[in-house]
Amino acid sequence: MSDMAIKRAVPGPKPARNLLEQLRLMSQFDHDTLGMIQRGFDTYGDVWLIEAGKMQQFMFRHPDHYHEILVTQASSFHKDLNYKDRKKGLGRFMGNGLVTSDGEFWKRQRKLIQPAFHARRIEAYTQAMVDITLGQINDWRDGAVIEVSEQMMEATLKVVTRSVFDVDITQATRTIGDAMTTFQNMSNNQNQMIPSWVPTPLELKTRQALREMDDIVYGLIRARRASAHDRGDLLSMLLEARDDDGSGMTDEQIRDELVTLFLAGHETTANSLNWTWYLLAQHPEVEARLHTELDTVLAGRAPSLQDLKQLTYTEMIIKESMRLYPAVYAIGRQATEDVEIGGYRVPKGASVGIFSFVTHRDPRWWGADAGQFKPERFATEQEAQIKKYAYLPFSTGPRICIGNSFAMMEAHLMLATIAQRWRLQLQPGQAVEPEPLITLRPKGGLHMIATARTPQAVAKAAPQAEPLPL
Ligand code: HEM
Repeated sequence: MSDMAIKRAVPGPKPARNLLEQLRLMSQFDHDTLGMIQRGFDTYGDVWLIEAGKMQQFMFRHPDHYHEILVTQASSFHKDLNYKDRKKGLGRFMGNGLVTSDGEFWKRQRKLIQPAFHARRIEAYTQAMVDITLGQINDWRDGAVIEVSEQMMEATLKVVTRSVFDVDITQATRTIGDAMTTFQNMSNNQNQMIPSWVPTPLELKTRQALREMDDIVYGLIRARRASAHDRGDLLSMLLEARDDDGSGMTDEQIRDELVTLFLAGHETTANSLNWTWYLLAQHPEVEARLHTELDTVLAGRAPSLQDLKQLTYTEMIIKESMRLYPAVYAIGRQATEDVEIGGYRVPKGASVGIFSFVTHRDPRWWGADAGQFKPERFATEQEAQIKKYAYLPFSTGPRICIGNSFAMMEAHLMLATIAQRWRLQLQPGQAVEPEPLITLRPKGGLHMIATARTPQAVAKAAPQAEPLPL
């Protein structure tokens, strides 16, 4: 590391030295997380620093710095406490699964799980994705108000459980979804300040959600061990995986990986779809072009894997909505040694934040109209011009989302299947606001009025739309 680099001071607000100042800072952060982060970058530039007591939080938004943190110097970082903390972080729900683990252990698990996400394997899930979507919208009625975020959450959770674990669950889907919501509510700073031994209503709800979720997951593991039947799904793969010394995974480790995939694999996709519906409702010209593509390519059929290559505009819409509203809007790491990023010294133990929602709207990479919804940005030729690492909905480097192709295929099929049959318009008077918890969700849900696009379209959907035995 050069002396020059070490001498570059990192700008930032006055450090919060005492408890009162720290509490004030946290409360400001909770009240306006996105605004505060954006204003910090506006004021201090591409790198700034928040200091509170011993805590140092470096804030980054430049794509070149992302490349350093996530790719070239990735080995100098591990997941930060927001992930690892077993009392308050993601670790409380996910344990030591793929999202929260690090080092050699993570490497081994990733290698073990990766084959479940190979293209051939995920292509086999296409039909289940379409069937589950049709089942989900089966009881929508013309003119009814739909809580879209609940619907998307339920459908994506069914998809992940069915596709990756080959299980049919009804009530369990809701239990796991509720557990995730409870957990997200725990994640703001004020709740984080309260120790987990204090039995607040939210803490009690969290314990119950965890218990119920564990009952389901351990139940699945035990039943499969007892049946000794290889169903070719991830659960079977995890049960059969052996280390070099011949030992297998404990039930607890398998539980952690399953819960990780349940949780990482549904809410993110659901929120990406939520924002897509929200943006479509505000851009009738984009919606009209989407309908034209769907009607031309599908001619009333439900979409299949073969159709996806032709549904290019549909895919561009999803990519553009993930640009404006990236479900994983921030990624955190902790330096495991002193490291230099963009010429700044990040000391061992400091946290670094990567803010895709800021970078995704930076006019330097997206032009003066960066805030506008324009799916054309992702037309092949234009997409090729996008600055590298300026678009990171799935992160990059060794910790890139393992489910990225799965998620893109799922969102593509779900949007096509639903938009072919229904228009969703915002309920009048509803102010939609992003709520940055662990993922970026529409605060208070998304209440939309469903309008059948054509009576024929809905009639066509009906015979295939029998509820699935989930
Ligand atoms: C649109 C939907 C999705 C988005 C936006 C998304 C985004 C991300 C991001 C940004 C990361 C990196 C987090 C970090 O490094 O801190 C990640 C990791 C991960 N995602 Fe996704 N994800 C989505 C869907 C899925 C699906 C469908 C699955 C599984 C079925 C999944 C499973 C995972 C796992 C296991 C990791 C940890 C990978 C590792 O560290 O090795 N995700 N995801």
